[in-house]
Amino acid sequence: MTNTTETSTTPRGELALQTLTMPKDTNANGDIFGGWLVSQMDLAAGIMTKRVVQGRSATVAIKDVVFLLPVSVGAIVSCYTDIVKIGNTSLQIAVEVWINNTRNSKGRQKAAEGLFVFVALDEQGKPQPIPH
Ligand SMILES: CC(C)(COP(=O)(O)OP(=O)(O)OC[C@H]1O[C@@H](n2cnc3c(N)ncnc32)[C@H](O)[C@@H]1OP(=O)(O)O)[C@@H](O)C(=O)NCCC(=O)NCCS
Repeated sequence: MTNTTETSTTPRGELALQTLTMPKDTNANGDIFGGWLVSQMDLAAGIMTKRVVQGRSATVAIKDVVFLLPVSVGAIVSCYTDIVKIGNTSLQIAVEVWINNTRNSKGRQKAAEGLFVFVALDEQGKPQPIPH
């Protein structure tokens, strides 16, 4: 787990996923569709969950997603994850999306954040304890 007192210019947690935005992922304004961004965040949290659970898991809740900046086509999208809590069968992962927009020279900026809750599942798809 990461020290949350770090400055807002520093991503929280570790890099779990990095990708490039494409024209097919735009909304009616020509910016990147929020649902696409949430999908990347879910994948990033899923990758982190896989490392902990080492088996089947599923997203049970997505909380407090906030879109802070528009994301343009051609931006590098980096999803950082930080485990907030490991419960009995669930774990909560804070996800931050940072972008490098090619259209401006502002460097790395936080574009979105949210809390993703995953549940470890057995072969029958029922919750099972996470090994600590
Ligand atoms: C995940 C699933 C198996 C959980 O079943 P369930 O009967 O609700 O399980 P439980 O009530 O025992 O909860 C399991 C854990 O999830 C947590 N949880 C359940 N709903 C939650 C919510 N809305 N927010 C936060 N945590 C939640 C519980 O607190 C519990 O955590 P703990 O064991 O660490 O204390 C079931 O809801 C499911 O299959 N959902 C679909 C998942 C899926 O397909 N996701 C992909 C996107 S569609």
